[in-house]
Amino acid sequence: MIIARNLQEFLQARASFKDYSVALVPTMGALHDGHMALVKRAKELAHYCIVTIFVNQLQFDQKEDFSRYPKTEEHDIKLLEQHQVDLVWLPRVGDIYPKGFATQIVVDGPSLLWEGEKRPGHFSGVATVVYRLFSLIKPHVACFGEKDWQQLQVIRRMVEDLNIPISIFGVPIVREVDGLAKSSRNRFLSQEEQQKSALLYQVLNKSYQRLQNGEVISQVLESAVDELSQKGFEVDYFNAVDGKSLCKISEWSSNSRLITAAKLGSVRLLDNM
Ligand code: PAJ
Repeated sequence: MIIARNLQEFLQARASFKDYSVALVPTMGALHDGHMALVKRAKELAHYCIVTIFVNQLQFDQKEDFSRYPKTEEHDIKLLEQHQVDLVWLPRVGDIYPKGFATQIVVDGPSLLWEGEKRPGHFSGVATVVYRLFSLIKPHVACFGEKDWQQLQVIRRMVEDLNIPISIFGVPIVREVDGLAKSSRNRFLSQEEQQKSALLYQVLNKSYQRLQNGEVISQVLESAVDELSQKGFEVDYFNAVDGKSLCKISEWSSNSRLITAAKLGSVRLLDNM
């Protein structure tokens, strides 16, 4: 596995892949099995697999502690090596945002509600860094997790709107044995919170089954929020939406998605089904 630590090293390695197909997995590090599912998919889709590790300050708002984001570089590199990734690039900030960089990509549509509302500027930070990675790396394929369902739809929208010649693949959520969606931030849960956290998946699953059985959306959502609140979750949203536009729906169909964000102590958990 080639490890590139700056743009020059990266471009040199990228050139050695010549005209073979390349799949990209962008990450912010603190890697776990969820990220590795993306790597496995990427390896099936192209000749070469590139992973980037870059904690993108542009997508954190001021309240969030960008500096608190976990950094586990040694562990990450070992994991990527074990999974036979061809090239990992850990860009410097100046590689992604050179001096004078003044452009931001703003995607409306799927980014307006939910995470977009709770975290102003977040999706524009995501879209800008992903566009920048796309234009530097020029992959044929890129993989994103369904864990961040709204993010995946924002990227799809950007790629379609800007006519970017890259195929986007969504990869299903990887969960802990108890159902909690794997996340780099789960390590901040206390032992007690960890035990409680599985309830989010259980409630999501139960609500999903009820909607599939044709129950009234508003009733299903209301009882989900009640149950989570009673058990100590601070629910930001728990809603049924169209899977592509992220708009609220009044009737459940095969294109629908249940999405939720809820805080348990200091950790904000994101999930969907
Ligand atoms: P990060 O949180 O590191 O996630 C990198 C990718 O891994 C994302 O596509 C995310 O959806 C996916 N992922 C994380 N946990 C997962 C899980 N349990 N199951 C399946 N996929 C999972 O998302 C970002 O970084 C950033 O916003 C990024 C796209 C890199 C732009 O900075």
